[in-house]
Amino acid sequence: MTNIADGKALASKIYEQISSEVDGLSKIPMLVVIITNDNEAGQIYVRNKQRACEKTGILSETIELDANVSEKELIGNILKLNKDELVDAILVQLPLPPHIDTERVLNAISPKKDADGFHYINAGKMFTGQIPNTVACTPKGIIRLLDEYKVKLEGLNAVVIGRSNIVGKPIAQLLLQRNATVTMCHSKTKNIETFTKNADLIVCATGQPEFLKGDMVKDGVIVIDVGISRKDGKLCGDVEFETVAPKASLITPVPGGVGPMTVAMLVQNTLDLTKKHIEDNQKKYITFL
Ligand code: GUN
Repeated sequence: MTNIADGKALASKIYEQISSEVDGLSKIPMLVVIITNDNEAGQIYVRNKQRACEKTGILSETIELDANVSEKELIGNILKLNKDELVDAILVQLPLPPHIDTERVLNAISPKKDADGFHYINAGKMFTGQIPNTVACTPKGIIRLLDEYKVKLEGLNAVVIGRSNIVGKPIAQLLLQRNATVTMCHSKTKNIETFTKNADLIVCATGQPEFLKGDMVKDGVIVIDVGISRKDGKLCGDVEFETVAPKASLITPVPGGVGPMTVAMLVQNTLDLTKKHIEDNQKKYITFL
């Protein structure tokens, strides 16, 4: 029987936990999001992120920059926020305009305020089995959702489709840490269905609407759909839900699956960074004494 993984319900549960923790903190957590005004899809996400923060008592501020902003000015904004004692977490909404070097911008964020876990120090620690300050929100949310549905990852044949730094690479790593056997497929993979048909778990992050179809998967497969796009005015994911869901033992819907979990993990990362920030300040104070 198909089980539909309810990311929205789990996100609500996580917000309740976060709210009660925020109430007990000595400092109100604060997230700052930087977005350039050419990023239309990003504007919707940013609003969702802001609403989620409000729900839990976290302060959230958005800095909207012109699409023509120079890399220097963008990084200047980040360096100021790095020094601001009120700010606990910084997120730069991607994609950035093409004249800007994304890696340089992401690496300008202090690793201690890295809401996305994209800084090379945090990503590198995650990839080498050390403890990072934060882990990228979508992969972290996927693992949290699989845990909620008590999926035993050890020994599963997991296929990740897509090799982005935001989703594909980090989710492959997290699945490997849980002892899954991970295969990475991407746009240049030949005969992709030979991999997907053998998979116990598929994470589909292709960015192509309804890419994964029912005849590409085996019965009982677990399917995580990371995509979100519009087809004939309707929201859809990277998975053709109508043909894949009947064969799946567990599947995430779009909307209401991975999306809400990504936002919930951003709020969780902001809380975690704030707790570390408070701890660091206490240590500094004790040293000063
Ligand atoms: N654009 C699409 N997904 C993401 C994300 O997880 N973080 C950021 N910063 N930008 C994105």
